[in-house]
Amino acid sequence: MENRKIIELLQEMTLAEKIGQLSQTTGEHYIGKVDSEMVETGPDFPAHMLEGDTLYTMGSIIGVSSAGITNRIQRQYLERSRLKVPLLFMHDAIHGYKTIFPIPLGLSCTWDERILQQVAEDTASELRATGIHVNFSPMVDLVRDSRWGRVMESFGEDHLLSGNLGRAMIRGYQKGEHGVIADSGVAACLKHFAAYGAGIGGKDYNAVDMSWREFYAYYGKPYEIALQEKPKFVMSSFNSFSGIPVTASEEMMKEILRGTYQFDEIIISDWGAVSELQNHRIAADGKEAAELALKAGIDIEMVSTLYLQHYEEILANNPALLQEIDAAVLKILQFKNELGLFENPYADEDLEHEVLLNPRFLENAKNAAKRSCVLLKNEQMLPIKQEYKNIIIVGPFAGSNQLLGNWKCKGSFDDVVTLPEGMKRADESLNLQVYETLKDCPASRLEQCDFIVVAIGEQWELSGEGHSSVNIELESSQQQLIREVKQTNKPYACICFSGRPLALQNIIDDIPALLWCWYPGTQAGNAIAELITGRGTPTGKLTMSFPRHSSQAPIYYNEYSTGRPANESSYSSRYQDCEIGPLFPFGHGLTYTDTQYSGFRISRHDLTDGQELTISFEVSNPSKYDYDETVILYIEDLVSRAVRPIREMKKYRVISVPAYQTVSVQMTLSVDDFRYLDHQLQQTIEPGKFNIYINDLQTPIASVEYR
Ligand code: BGC
Repeated sequence: MENRKIIELLQEMTLAEKIGQLSQTTGEHYIGKVDSEMVETGPDFPAHMLEGDTLYTMGSIIGVSSAGITNRIQRQYLERSRLKVPLLFMHDAIHGYKTIFPIPLGLSCTWDERILQQVAEDTASELRATGIHVNFSPMVDLVRDSRWGRVMESFGEDHLLSGNLGRAMIRGYQKGEHGVIADSGVAACLKHFAAYGAGIGGKDYNAVDMSWREFYAYYGKPYEIALQEKPKFVMSSFNSFSGIPVTASEEMMKEILRGTYQFDEIIISDWGAVSELQNHRIAADGKEAAELALKAGIDIEMVSTLYLQHYEEILANNPALLQEIDAAVLKILQFKNELGLFENPYADEDLEHEVLLNPRFLENAKNAAKRSCVLLKNEQMLPIKQEYKNIIIVGPFAGSNQLLGNWKCKGSFDDVVTLPEGMKRADESLNLQVYETLKDCPASRLEQCDFIVVAIGEQWELSGEGHSSVNIELESSQQQLIREVKQTNKPYACICFSGRPLALQNIIDDIPALLWCWYPGTQAGNAIAELITGRGTPTGKLTMSFPRHSSQAPIYYNEYSTGRPANESSYSSRYQDCEIGPLFPFGHGLTYTDTQYSGFRISRHDLTDGQELTISFEVSNPSKYDYDETVILYIEDLVSRAVRPIREMKKYRVISVPAYQTVSVQMTLSVDDFRYLDHQLQQTIEPGKFNIYINDLQTPIASVEYR
């Protein structure tokens, strides 16, 4: 439709119809609850206004799946609405829709933007075939505290990596350049703006309070980077920030998101967050809550219905808001037009069957799952030797199909390849026995067995939204199982599933080899089997530090220098009852043979404005596997006027290293890469020396002087 017609449509709309476009509800109000096809991801809100004609002014629907159902709702809506503006359907396909990929934290351990973009492209194809137009993803909230259940949805503790991976996913979902949505693409919704991952104490929905320097240098950075890919939507976060709930913050929404970060598309609240301004106790009633959110610039109210209930009174007191409302409605209409919904509002139900669980997506899911696993420890136990044919798999996850992780969307456990299934596919000659506990295993079987795989972890429901935990240690019964296995004197290795880093200090010495699999998704068993039977090598690297104990969280690699750096003294910045540092640091991850780095060269030892610096070196793969190696470059500023982190990641690259080959790598830094945000919020660099590190956080490979 021509833009002129969209403007005419806007002019024809009543105020009630405009407010409808700014309101989002669930599908049950139209066709009743269809359990398997409608999900609710938050508490119920009273259905005030959700009846009669008002229902047929609404702009969008959340949480409905399947082409048959989106079409039924759309058809009914279009029959009954006056102006016949098609509905938008929005959903949370956080790591896949029907084909489930690894959880985002797992995906981030690939460090590979190509993989994340592909995951998003495949997810978009499934969503669009189903009639869904907007995906509430990616989440780029920076995280440092694994007690927070939503770390599973994040890309870890580094702001640059989080921003870049979020950017790659936006590119994949939208499939078009510069914010254009291609035919089989969906709009990305970047979330949760802002700093939702910094809730005090790792408690979900909790208040956030930090300096502006901390915000602009770290917590705000991932959004700033990802916004460059022009997502169509941004979701505001539940939390307050320095005392003001973000949903009511003109400063956050208008000055920073719209102003500094130049986002000019659609802002949607989180689930019920407009109404929850009353719980924050900054709004005395629903009218005040709606007015605060409208003034802050929240274009669409998700699920609660306060805009619908109170707009007349609000606009009577504040007629100037009408202009902002018109601008928001226009954007929504233009977006619907861009998707071609006025011409074709329905999904193709035949196409949906062809697209879902397409073999290509399953292959990509297997590859992503393989690449996301991180080998944390290996005392020459993995891969399982080829001559070991009698294998026991034991533990709560031994034969489990519960490997999708939270936010599994339409993923079905029946579609999951379990570990025994994957092992059998990898090697038919294996004699596999699967037990939940060692006690279930007859003594004779144990006697005959060559190798034990211990499949442990945290149940998937224990991470995700609302699932903050004080205890992030492995269940004691599972620790007990590991000790029992150790006593058998058989060779063994552990594979672990979880949505967060767990605290393993109490058990790590009893684990000779540990492969961290996160929740790998639909292709779990195939991916893990290929790795542990040696048909490929793990290559994932951690994007979040593993604490030793629960109360060592938050823990992250780029903490600030202090006056008393951690050391053996009792007057140093450390916990006295715990070893210094994480159990496994950011960037850690082994392969089956050590990748070798050599020949470090630096193009110059002095640096001034306008110059660049190149670090060159060789990476050798002494193994029989072709693989992708992640190279991470950190800097350390030896003296600065404002305190800086001990290490700062500035560059990373994923490079292909064929078996038995050596490849040359060059990484280039500009003067800007050495700058930092100082205490007056200025990008600064002072003369002095910087150390450079590659992969290793302890030993510099070179240094350079800025003059
Ligand atoms: C979550 C969002 C999600 C929304 C819609 C909220 O509870 O915080 O991440 O997109 O629900 O399902």
